[in-house]
Amino acid sequence: MSKELQYKFPEGFLWGGAIAANQSEGAWLEDGKTPQVTDVMVGIENDGHTPGIKFNKTTGKYEMAQDPNKVYLANEGIDFYHRYKEDIRLIAGMGFTCFRTSISWARVFPKGDALVPNEVALKHYDDVIDTIRSYGMEPIITITHFDNPLDLMINYNGWSNRKCIDFYLNYCDTIFRRYGGKVKYWLTFNEINNLYRRPFAAAGVLPSNTDVNKKYFDENYTELEMNQALHNTMLANALSVKLFHKLVPNGMIGCMMAGSHAAVYPASCNPDDVLATIDAKRETYLFTDIMCEGYYPYWLTKLWEKHDTYPEIFEGELETIRDNTVDYLGFSYYFSNVCTYEEGHMYDGGALVSGGKKTVNEFCNEFSPDPWRFRKDPKGFRILVQEYSDRYHLPLFIAENGIGLYENDKDGPIQDPERVKYLEEHLKQLQLAIEDGARVFGYCWWGPIDIMSSGSGEMDKRYGFIYVDKHNDGTGDMHRSIKQSYYRYKEIIENNGL
Ligand code: BG6
Repeated sequence: MSKELQYKFPEGFLWGGAIAANQSEGAWLEDGKTPQVTDVMVGIENDGHTPGIKFNKTTGKYEMAQDPNKVYLANEGIDFYHRYKEDIRLIAGMGFTCFRTSISWARVFPKGDALVPNEVALKHYDDVIDTIRSYGMEPIITITHFDNPLDLMINYNGWSNRKCIDFYLNYCDTIFRRYGGKVKYWLTFNEINNLYRRPFAAAGVLPSNTDVNKKYFDENYTELEMNQALHNTMLANALSVKLFHKLVPNGMIGCMMAGSHAAVYPASCNPDDVLATIDAKRETYLFTDIMCEGYYPYWLTKLWEKHDTYPEIFEGELETIRDNTVDYLGFSYYFSNVCTYEEGHMYDGGALVSGGKKTVNEFCNEFSPDPWRFRKDPKGFRILVQEYSDRYHLPLFIAENGIGLYENDKDGPIQDPERVKYLEEHLKQLQLAIEDGARVFGYCWWGPIDIMSSGSGEMDKRYGFIYVDKHNDGTGDMHRSIKQSYYRYKEIIENNGL
């Protein structure tokens, strides 16, 4: 038998795709929903996102202030809120056995701190979940996916405030009770290791610099508030795991990581590059050390002491984190990075990771197309899967993998061999990692239907097997059409492998 025919996956392997409420639903102020952080973010700005909030000197508070000259694509998304039935039908046509999406916190609990849930929203997600299940797909629900309610940011400074833990638990309690009988797999915080990288989107924390039109990454946040946000989210994660095990004893709850940030090679054998790489990987592993193994790594607490930025941790909280670890590790993978000790340990995954010296990886130097250029590295995927498997000994779930391309169907059905190649190459490496013993139970392609990009906030970066006619300037009639890759993924799923 040729090697090509041997890429078969374990029986019962979950095949599917993932989207998120904040990038697809739209209906941003409908049926009681209040804005969430992505609703005020605009991509494709030279300085990254420019959040549509401003400081009001009279009230001494931030408030929402969208710029009328900008297009806030998340407000309409791809209108999944109204079109989910048709979209799920199209998606199911590929033979998916699972489908991952998220619930919008600001829809279920308007403003985030409402005490009573919004029944219209709960009913909506009942319908979405029932539709997913009606096609034989296992729903996989992310509890929060870069969509902290904006009011929690404005009124509480987001996750830097421990009051968010209670609001979050109230939200979890409601959705676990409501959907626990029909949703087996859950994920807590999407890509929570983006907390320090993208505090606005991932932690809903206000920039301390009042000039929010400035670039707000890193320098606009204090280390102490972000360390507190880390502890608060990690404690919330553990408490929600505890609650979940009580309310949904037959379910599984996992964490979700941006795995690409752990896929880092040293630029050379120079021990200084290797040490810098260890540092770079620690930034991501620290989250899984806490959520999968239940402890704050020693190097981290030492760093807090050194910097005098130890967050407030109350008695018993470390034990809660220790005793309530996740059931599985979910992660995304898109690209790998190269790390050099120069320039403060910056590492390079192509244009997605800013700053630092661009280091060439001569063994893997194929990039995704401009302008998003990231380093394509299917073997890096296998390495990451094996590292996660060896380090945590947990079941693994590929929550996202994919490639964004410029496409338009105005000249007929889209041919996308580049996407097919990316898919096939990554699946082969995944299968090899499974053959080597990694307990991977499912794979989700990111964005099986075109949705708004999270990192660059645009619509023209398309990941889908299904095209959606919507563009960066907000134009488009929203029609859906099938791309060539749709049929290839369908075939792979039918064959349970390549
Ligand atoms: C992950 C996120 O970072 O990658 C998604 O969980 C995101 O929300 C995806 O959309 C792809 O990244 P981007 O920036 O191309 O949308």
